[in-house]
Amino acid sequence: MSTSVDRFDLVERPRRLRRTAAIRRLVQENRLSAADLVLPVFVREGATEPIAIGSMPGVVQHSRDSLMRAATEAAEAGVGGIMIFGVPKERDACGDVAIASDSILAEAVRWTKQATGNSLPVIADLCLDEFTSHGHCGVLDADGNVDNDATLAVYQQMGITLAEAGSDILGLSGMMDGQVGAVREALDDAGHLDTAILAYAAKYASAFYGPFRDAVESALQGDRKTYQQDPANALESLREVRLDIAEGADMVMVKPALPYLDILARTADSVDVPVAAYIVSGEYSMIEAAAAAGMIDRERAILEAHMSVKRAGASVICTYWATEVARLIK
Ligand code: PBG
Repeated sequence: MSTSVDRFDLVERPRRLRRTAAIRRLVQENRLSAADLVLPVFVREGATEPIAIGSMPGVVQHSRDSLMRAATEAAEAGVGGIMIFGVPKERDACGDVAIASDSILAEAVRWTKQATGNSLPVIADLCLDEFTSHGHCGVLDADGNVDNDATLAVYQQMGITLAEAGSDILGLSGMMDGQVGAVREALDDAGHLDTAILAYAAKYASAFYGPFRDAVESALQGDRKTYQQDPANALESLREVRLDIAEGADMVMVKPALPYLDILARTADSVDVPVAAYIVSGEYSMIEAAAAAGMIDRERAILEAHMSVKRAGASVICTYWATEVARLIK
């Protein structure tokens, strides 16, 4: 004890509540829960065993069997949901393969439901970029521009295919205007009143999707700046969120997560539906690469990233670490 130190007459000493681990636990404002986490998975048509993804260490393109194992493990760990992306063998200009009832994505939805039933909500990605030969999220017009309304008609058919396959929720990630309303109408007309829609409402044209394009073997040349948002804009996100909810979105998403926590917080403050955030491939790979290089403590960085997203207002977090984080916080 340094008795010679003069004591200051401080009215508040916030450090009192940080003194022991037990006190810190008592006053912790946010807690991560496995139930909030959604595991995104890639399923490759024709794969007989999992295939490593070079730019996403620890993430694979699944085969049927490895998908069913991963879904079962996620459910057992208490993960809240699974989000499926298909990697087809064949692609075409119109994404016709995306509509077929035996598309790799529809099949993967069936396999997952077979493995985990109603214990793990299945979110199927509803977008064309994995299925088009040019890699865009929609079909192109004669000038090579993404044709919004022609794309909506394809999304409607794809939505019905994925609902029929048993998807609990459809993840509308294409950023076409009117996509939520168009798909909702098609689902309702086909009797799929209970299939929910998660709208990727505020989705930015981001460099952080780089490794994902590797994961789905995207053929994209150029960029998505005519449909995804400019990272400079914030107000535009509130507009996108407002429109999607007006069109019937059951949940909205902000994506990517960590560079857009301000958008996430503003969105969470402005709506009365669940708000999801997606810690995307580039965010995943940056932390994995820095940890592999010995630059940061891997587990602490992962947990801190998830807690930041939760604190900013996400009630659902899509993360490639979902199963691991669910186990870590148990
Ligand atoms: C498009 C889609 C993308 C991601 C999810 N859905 C890629 C893109 O918009 O280019 C990215 C997810 C990630 O980077 O982890 N269907």
